[in-house]
Amino acid sequence: MCGIVGAVSTRNIVPVLVQGLQRLEYRGYDSCGVAVHDASLEGNQGSGLHRARSTARVAELMEQVTKEHLQGATGIAHTRWATHGAPAVHNAHPHFSVGPGVGDAHAAGRVGLVHNGIIENHEALRAALQAKGYEFLSQTDTEVIAHLVDSHYNGDLFDAVQAAIKELRGAYAIAVMHKDEPHRVVGARAGSPLILGVGQNENFLASDAMALAGVTDQIVYLAEGDMVDLQIGRYWIVNQVGKTMEAGERPVKTVRAHSGAVELGPYRHYMQKEIFEQPRAIAETLEGVVSVVPELFDGADGTAAWRVFKEIDNVLILACGTSYYSGCAAKYWIEGLAGIPCNVEVASEYRYRKSVPNPRSLVVTISQSGETADTLAALRHAQGLGMTNTLTICNVATSAMVRECKLAYITRAGVEIGVASTKAFTTQLAGLFLLTLALGQAKGKITESESDHYLEQMRHLPVALQAVLALEPQVVSWAEDFARKNNALFLGRGIHYPIALEGALKLKEISYIHAEAYPAGELKHGPLALVDSEMPVVTVAPNDELLEKLKSNMQEVRARGGVLYVLADANTDIENAPGIHVIRMPEHYGALSPILHVVPLQLLSYHTALARGTDVDKPRNLAKSVTVE
Ligand code: F6R
Repeated sequence: MCGIVGAVSTRNIVPVLVQGLQRLEYRGYDSCGVAVHDASLEGNQGSGLHRARSTARVAELMEQVTKEHLQGATGIAHTRWATHGAPAVHNAHPHFSVGPGVGDAHAAGRVGLVHNGIIENHEALRAALQAKGYEFLSQTDTEVIAHLVDSHYNGDLFDAVQAAIKELRGAYAIAVMHKDEPHRVVGARAGSPLILGVGQNENFLASDAMALAGVTDQIVYLAEGDMVDLQIGRYWIVNQVGKTMEAGERPVKTVRAHSGAVELGPYRHYMQKEIFEQPRAIAETLEGVVSVVPELFDGADGTAAWRVFKEIDNVLILACGTSYYSGCAAKYWIEGLAGIPCNVEVASEYRYRKSVPNPRSLVVTISQSGETADTLAALRHAQGLGMTNTLTICNVATSAMVRECKLAYITRAGVEIGVASTKAFTTQLAGLFLLTLALGQAKGKITESESDHYLEQMRHLPVALQAVLALEPQVVSWAEDFARKNNALFLGRGIHYPIALEGALKLKEISYIHAEAYPAGELKHGPLALVDSEMPVVTVAPNDELLEKLKSNMQEVRARGGVLYVLADANTDIENAPGIHVIRMPEHYGALSPILHVVPLQLLSYHTALARGTDVDKPRNLAKSVTVE
């Protein structure tokens, strides 16, 4: 999703800004741009703010700024993921305000601004600004903020931004500069993340610490409602009630966001790399886990998990997309092994529906990024209803989700760049399985020795995952068939139904093939009508207590001419036959089987997308980190 980089320095900062955008590319974007104050370089009189914008990749923006000799020591840059207005150069950020009545698209700007988020009252503000003579050159909600800041400007950018944001409704992280203040960038955040990077005699703003990898590792996480005034070698942070923060109130943290993590190495795509990183990610997740103890889930501020686990009597999981599906799988574990009632809700639904709060719920948010707007809003909604026992399973230790939950479990997937989530999903499942064991022990449903036994099984997962990855050539031959199809069905039963859901999501998001998942028992209640020889039906068929039922469902498909693609376990009698393609999983893995079965489905979507020639890592219309509603 949209990304922000900003800087106040004494050197030409354009390469740093554009490289910052390059590091944010993984979030997904459809246009990009950079603006600088050309007077901020020594000896340059300057003529105001200048910008370059593009609907091509950031690499092309870099060529453009080099060709146009765009230079400056103060600047802002942005990758845009379109919400209001099509992906087009005139809608790309930075947006300029040139003052009322000057509708010249090429005029050097007076105010320059980049924005992440959505301004809900942009139409009313636009009408009011138009009445004052401001001309709009884009369809964005962002241009409204640029004009609004200009309309409040009276010689001090900070004051103007402070006055402008009072009129905004919605979510924003912004970085703003003014042509008359060449060594200043002002930032503000409400509902969208923004961080401050402290360098040697230079300061930075970014939506994500990753943007500043290799530039500075000294990071301040701005809190909700904060404003920041960036100048050369100094900065001030003012909180939402206008109080200037002391150093201790917004501490500088050392954050290792390695740019090395975004190297592709021998792989063609990040998604491929991340699929193959799963054995290591699971091994790292288990490193240092000697036994399953509540301390694994203690909060960032030291809150003891065991107290919370004793207190709660049910679990409510809130998440979106792939993370939601990991929650759906965990429900089977939490109810089946730990004996605790568990509900799983799509965060964007939960936040708006009238629900019956239970103060004895453990509210669990699951998120790779820890910044997903709907999941954060659902968490805050639950807290607002009095449910204060909160825990997050999250891949980013410094995220808002971790900061705002009492308890946390940080997955060790490492940076996930591919928009389609893979290793984050399997590490979430590993974290959720550990949570099940810890909760089961706290409630006396799982003994310590049972828990140790499960942990032993988990330790074998990296080796088992390697064996599953070795099935890739067989998956490639399936993918050749799928690449020629327009639809696919995925079936599973029990805990493998969420795995079927995840397989269908992966296929549709990167290969654009319409895919649906059903609990296999539902087939004859409707979807069977879709089955004919053009409908491939993927069946997740581990050798569990539901296998015989599943085999009957497979017969129903074959009888209608549907072609089956079956993930079977080693010790079953499901064999290749006309219309039945079988990939045999290396071994049956009991309760942990979903962690293995999802991997061939990830590979299937990857190779199908490859065969269809789609942009695997940056599928159309999607973004990595969904920080707007
Ligand atoms: C799909 C995918 C998304 C995310 C969803 C939630 O491959 O990645 O469905 O799972 O946007 O994101 P997080 O986990 O960051 O909250």
